[in-house]
Order: sequence, then C-alpha cells, then structure tokens
Amino acid sequence: MYDARIAEQEILTPPPAAAPRINGPKVYGARPDKAFVYRIPTQGARPMVFEVEGLPPSLTLDAGRGILGGRSPRQRGAYRMTLHARNGQGRAWRGFVLVVGDQLALTPPTGWNHWGGHASNISDGIIRSAADLFVQGGLADVGYQFIGLDDGWMRMAPAEYERIQREKDEGYLRKHRGLDFARTVGAPRDAGGNILPNGLFPDMKGLADYIHGFGLRAGIYSSPGPMTCQSLEGSAGHEEQDARQFAAWGYDLLKYDECSAGKLIAQARRERPDFELATFWRPMVASIEQTDRDLVFNLCQYGAGDPWRWAPGIGVQTWRTGGDLNHHLERYFDQALRIATTLRAFNGPGHWNDPDFLYVGRQVQTRGNHFVAAADSGLDSNQEYQYVSLWAMVCAPMFFSTDVNHVSDFTLGLLSNPEVMAINQDELGHTAEVLENESKRVVMLKRLADGFKALGVFNRDAEAEVVVEIDGAALTGKRRWAVRDVWRQRDLGLCENGLAVRLSPNGVGLFRLG
Ligand code: GLA
Repeated sequence: MYDARIAEQEILTPPPAAAPRINGPKVYGARPDKAFVYRIPTQGARPMVFEVEGLPPSLTLDAGRGILGGRSPRQRGAYRMTLHARNGQGRAWRGFVLVVGDQLALTPPTGWNHWGGHASNISDGIIRSAADLFVQGGLADVGYQFIGLDDGWMRMAPAEYERIQREKDEGYLRKHRGLDFARTVGAPRDAGGNILPNGLFPDMKGLADYIHGFGLRAGIYSSPGPMTCQSLEGSAGHEEQDARQFAAWGYDLLKYDECSAGKLIAQARRERPDFELATFWRPMVASIEQTDRDLVFNLCQYGAGDPWRWAPGIGVQTWRTGGDLNHHLERYFDQALRIATTLRAFNGPGHWNDPDFLYVGRQVQTRGNHFVAAADSGLDSNQEYQYVSLWAMVCAPMFFSTDVNHVSDFTLGLLSNPEVMAINQDELGHTAEVLENESKRVVMLKRLADGFKALGVFNRDAEAEVVVEIDGAALTGKRRWAVRDVWRQRDLGLCENGLAVRLSPNGVGLFRLG
C-alpha cells in the first residue's frame, strides 16, 4: 500500500538540487523573422554558464543568464539545438527544437495573470514584482514564461465615469473597489487615436522591457468591444492601431475579452442571419499576425458559441471554455473533465482549450460579481494539488493567478514542481483520457513523448479516504512496470502486480508509469 495522502499545507515538491536541471518545453513555435525572447528555464545554484549548440545565427545567447534573444530565423523549418548549463556542482543538457512556421504555443502557454489576485487594483509596480517573484521564487526556473496584465491598465472615458456617478451605479462602485478613479479617468486615446495607459502605468514599453530583461514574456489585455468588462477603453474600431501599439510596446500575448462586445455580437446576429463569430474576432487576430512580434492570442468568450470549433481556424492559440472560474472555484474539476472528454478533440499543439487560471493562494474574493476582500482561495491543500494536477494532465494553459504580494511557501511549492510542469509541457500534447469516473473516483491517463504514461488518480469525496488499485501492467502493456510519484519525485520501484494507492479526501496521486 502506497500512502499518497496529503496533509493540509504539506509541501510535496522537494527543493531543487544545486546541480543544473534544464526544464521547459522541448519544442517551441515561432513565426519567421520575429522578435524573439526565451529564458532557458533551469534550476540549480548560480552562477551558471549556458551554451547552445546549433544556435541559429539570427538568435543571441546571454551565456550568464541563459536568455535567448534576437530574431527567429527567416527560413521556415525545424532548428535543432542542444541547451547546456553548468555550474560548480555539475552540468545538464537537453534538446530543444525551434519550429519556425505558422504555429505558436506548440505546448500550452505558461505564466501568471494579475486578475485573481489583484482585480482592478493594479499598477506597474505590482506587475514588476510578479516578474521579480518569477526569478527569485524559482518559478521561471521551472518554465513559467508570461507575466500577464488583465483588465485595468487602460483609461476610463470621462463620460463613462460621469454616467457611473450620475446613475449612482452602486453595483459598479462596489465591484470596482480598489480602482483608483483619480488616476484612471481621462481621455482614453490621444489625438491620433492611440490607446493610452492610465496613471498607474507610466511606461508600458518600459514595463515590457523590464519583463524581457529576465527573458520572460509580457501579456496584455483588451476587448473587441468599446469598453472592457471594467468599463475601461476597448479596441472596437481600433484593432489595427492597437495591435501595432501592443507589439511596439513589446507585448507577447493578448487576452482579448468579449465584455461589451456582447452587444455588438447580438446586434450583428439580428441584422445578418449569416453572421459568424469567426468573422467578428478575426480582425484583431489578423492585425496581431501582421505585427513584428509573435503574440499568443487568448480569446475569451466564456465558452459561448463553441470557440473550439472555429477559433483555431482563424489563428487563435487558446480560447476560454467557460465563465470565470474564480467566481465558481468548485467547478475546477468539471472544467478539466470536460476538456478530457467532450473537448479533447480540439486540444493539441498550437491550439488549446483554456479552462481559466489556476486561482490558488491569496485571491481577491468575489461575492456574485463584487470584489469583497482578499483571502485564501477557499480550496483546501488537497484540492489545490488536484487543480494543478488536472491542469497538467489536460494540457491547460498553465497560468496561475494569485496575489503576488502574499505568496506562501506552500503556493510556491505547489506551482514549482518541474516534473508536474513536464507533464503539462510534454511535446506530444496528448490530453489525458478518463479511464474511470465512478463513485467519486477519477482515473486519467496521458501519453508522454518518451513512451512513459502519466497517471492521475483523484478522490472526489470530500469526507472519506479511498484506496485506488493501479494495474500498471494493463496501463503500460508491460509485465513489469516502473512507477514514480511525480509530486514527491520519488521512484517507487518496479512492480509486477497491482499497486494500491491511498488518497486523502479530495486527494490526488500523480505518477509516471513505464
Ligand atoms: C471577464 C473575464 C475575466 C477577467 C475580467 C476582467 O470577466 O472572463 O477573466 O478578464 O473580465 O474584467
């Protein structure tokens, strides 16, 4: 009997060794001749020296920090490299294939987004401290890449502010607790129609440069409607101009959120029976593709209109499959199950279902649509381990959202297990299949590129422990099979018979079988 029970606040991820260990995806997509930035995610003691064999001449390497820069090659094709890292304690290397073509996000995008932890109460300083945390807290070393802005960096048109005051829109004012109106309200564009950040973001380019300085990538947010969900300036009618601006500032991902565009879509539907959502979203996607940067496109339409059917076809890399998970955190399990079942056919390298962020650790709490206070997510530790394990197994974009000013050691451990990340980032991009979903017990299996299999066993019973029997011979097709506990990074040895695994209430065990 293997005891995989997890105690409250128990940190399972062992601390990284001093010798180098290179993490991150083994394949990476880029379009030809675009600005390039990639930090080689590497754990181990610094100082460290990096070397890259087979580096295309258009790329540069910062050998002391392991940051690739420059431009992607002009020629399409697969560029095979070997990444090397060494320090006083040892050395590590691994293959890395840069695939220059039309596809981005060959593995699920990874990073942090400000929304769950900060809502509208956001500033340049908070975003910079997220980048600092990535480096100091080791998150960048296991492969988190994007530092993502959500709603709140742009301005609110004075007319909208006056409406809120005039109508004493109490709901809005409560919802926007934390929004600094004095620094947010103002003409949202300059005379040339260029979008302007609000007073809390004095230098949008400087912010992206700061993030790139660590080899990380920067995310920005807008809406196809006239206003964002927080009534700030949207991109309707300015798609090309805004896309150019986002790229000129240096952003690498756009979350494009329906918000007030719902009305535009409804109106277009009434007027034109042949209206297609793909046509509605396409202008921004096309404008983004025209820029000098590779921006990953995250389409947010809350799962309405089956975006998985048409979004990949117009060049979108990720699309939300449902509403805001932070308002219904209890749905994390069902969201993942849906991707593993009905939506699995739409998941694969270059195009991923997005069940929303990992809302773990300290969050801005919501009641209905109103932000009330900051507190822990409300999930217990076992549930948070389930949540992260599920995102890894179903190849969800590995974006977490938490208050960067209050990240506990528990949350850091939860997010920075390189073996869990490796399951999410596996280049096969195989979405876990559900082998069993009965009596509150769920078993999922994901094929990995090296021939191993990732097995997730989950207990959905909040009160009782369970014992799950793993029949490794049936799952691997091998008489003798090796098993490793991925969370604890512990080999359990070779088995010939079944292995019984004991799980806590709401528990999870994540294993590599081969
Ligand atoms: C919508 C989105 C959220 C977040 C907020 C910001 O609700 O679904 O993820 O971006 O808008 O206003």
